[in-house]
Amino acid sequence: MAVTKSPQEGKLSGEVFYPSPEVVAQANVKDPEAARKEANENLESYWARRANELEWFQKWDKVLDESNKPFYKWFVGGKTNIVLNAIDRHVKTWRRNKLAFIWEGEKGEVRTMSYHALAREVCKFANVLKSMGVTKGDRVTIYMPRILETVVAMLATAKIGAVHSVVYGGFSVEALHGRIEDSESKVIITADGGNMNGKIVELKKIVDEALRRTAAPENVVVIKHTGKEVNMEPGRDFWYHELMTLPLTRNNQRCETEVMDAEDPLYILYTSGTTGKPKAVVHTHGGYQVGVYSTFKDVFDIKEEDRWWCTADPGWVTGHSYIVYAPLIAGATSIIYEGAPTYPYPDRWWGIIEKYGVSVLYTTPTAIRGLMRFGSAWPNRHDLSSLRLLGSVGEPINPEAWRWFHKYIGKERCPIMDTWWQTETGMFMIAPMPADPLKPGSGTRPYPGVEVDVVNEEGKSVKAGEEGFLVLKKPWPAMLRTIYKDPDRYVSTYWSKYPGMYLAGDSARKDEDGYFWIIGRVDDVIKVSGYRLGTAELESALVSHASVAEAAVIGLPHEIKGIAIHAYVILKAGIEGNEKLAEELKQHMSHEVGPIAKPEKIEFVATLPKTRSGKIMRRVLKARAQGMSEGDLTTLEE
Ligand code: PRX
Repeated sequence: MAVTKSPQEGKLSGEVFYPSPEVVAQANVKDPEAARKEANENLESYWARRANELEWFQKWDKVLDESNKPFYKWFVGGKTNIVLNAIDRHVKTWRRNKLAFIWEGEKGEVRTMSYHALAREVCKFANVLKSMGVTKGDRVTIYMPRILETVVAMLATAKIGAVHSVVYGGFSVEALHGRIEDSESKVIITADGGNMNGKIVELKKIVDEALRRTAAPENVVVIKHTGKEVNMEPGRDFWYHELMTLPLTRNNQRCETEVMDAEDPLYILYTSGTTGKPKAVVHTHGGYQVGVYSTFKDVFDIKEEDRWWCTADPGWVTGHSYIVYAPLIAGATSIIYEGAPTYPYPDRWWGIIEKYGVSVLYTTPTAIRGLMRFGSAWPNRHDLSSLRLLGSVGEPINPEAWRWFHKYIGKERCPIMDTWWQTETGMFMIAPMPADPLKPGSGTRPYPGVEVDVVNEEGKSVKAGEEGFLVLKKPWPAMLRTIYKDPDRYVSTYWSKYPGMYLAGDSARKDEDGYFWIIGRVDDVIKVSGYRLGTAELESALVSHASVAEAAVIGLPHEIKGIAIHAYVILKAGIEGNEKLAEELKQHMSHEVGPIAKPEKIEFVATLPKTRSGKIMRRVLKARAQGMSEGDLTTLEE
């Protein structure tokens, strides 16, 4: 039964975990090599075959249009709506009575929702949005805790052809304000709060404060979840439960799914980039649904009877693709847990796996490291025998955490799918399938049809084992189509360094077996606990404090978080740096950007290393902090 360590198999170098014959026998894709070969030989026919597993209002004329690179188009001429595949087609079958979601609140309350109930709720809320004047192409901001209404809101928006912009509920005032303003959202959907670690996150209060900084959207819909009293602005703010029980909505539980062009936008999602403000990545209905569905089915090997649990927040791309869209398209049953992994004890997650019989668990290296710290006695108290497959995402997983996860959670029986991808890619790019041999710390090989390479400064492939820039050499259906309102930035950020290649922003190595090893970001993105933050956004939040003249932030290794934020601050003349001020600045960051943006350490300095053109040399700060050589400093002017 076991996924055994069998060096005697000897085909691959290093520490290799080969799949057991049982894992291979029941895998959706029994021969991943054959699938890769099929896609390599004919990319378009491969994706057409996968797209044909889904429903379309009208099939496409052309699978891939490359006439205006890098503005690739997929399934051109096709008519669809992701909701057609996520909900509509299931409610026509026996699956209408299958559970789409099992939700558990931090306080232990449980709610379930069948595909039928989800369909009704989505239709009702879609009618509410329509009654507020939301039409095709309009943007709707969703700022929510981890509750089922988040999923309902996303699907209702998509159903009527509007575009959702989900802002992670852990972001705070300025981050939310910037995202509402840039998206010009007509409606904001939020809640009276969320439960996290025994405390209430006051989302509505943050919305109110963010809206004081911007031209207000027309309406705010508020879900009553925690019961905490909130301010309701008459004429602007409405309770969800009241809107959903209005005779108009109650008597109108049907809503036609809008027929969308395959290339029409489904959502925008803000993410931190190299420079300036966070940018919104645009994903579409047609190609995205094909990409997330097929990767989910192949990599996580989903079967009708599985209980899938992706521990991410719907506010990040992992939640969009693999809590909401892919699992629903695949007709799966998902678990959503609202709160913290350690609340009230460090075995909360293991208890959830036991209670609901979770069979596939997808989580992050930070969470694994955080739970590993409490020791194996916590998972050992629970029956985890329902698990058959594990997954990791968001940052490189260190082999020590991989082995702990494999041994104490997967009981040396469950293969670990380490999936490398990004907000921009929409779907897994480098990931094993269960029948592939694994190497701890490597995402293994590209998904079928995905061509990955590691190149040097000149764009030439480097030798096996050498470090370089990670690039993607072929388009894929779930790829971002552009940057919202900024197509030039789409071209310059991703496609201009090497013509014809997508620049991922990561450094990586490919070993002699063709396995990829991600090293980390090489741009101004910092991945704190796997959460993506940009130096520009963090620095501008610091500088918005009255005492700060200039600031620079860098990421440094951290035992649990992977990377933590270190800030260097130049204070305004006459202001003295001390511990109290450092604490105040940390609180300020938490208030403006969110608790995840709180620096680990703040250092007050008199100068910052800069180039002659005035650009802060974070590389130098990083080298100094780690006691390493400062490299080539010829452009440095201090
Ligand atoms: O640096 C890589 C890291 O996360 C970045 C993308 O972040 P984001 O857009 O927030 O999407 C995260 C969820 C898909 C990548 O450029 N990353 C993501 N997955 C992995 C990873 N690094 C190593 N191994 C992974 N499996």
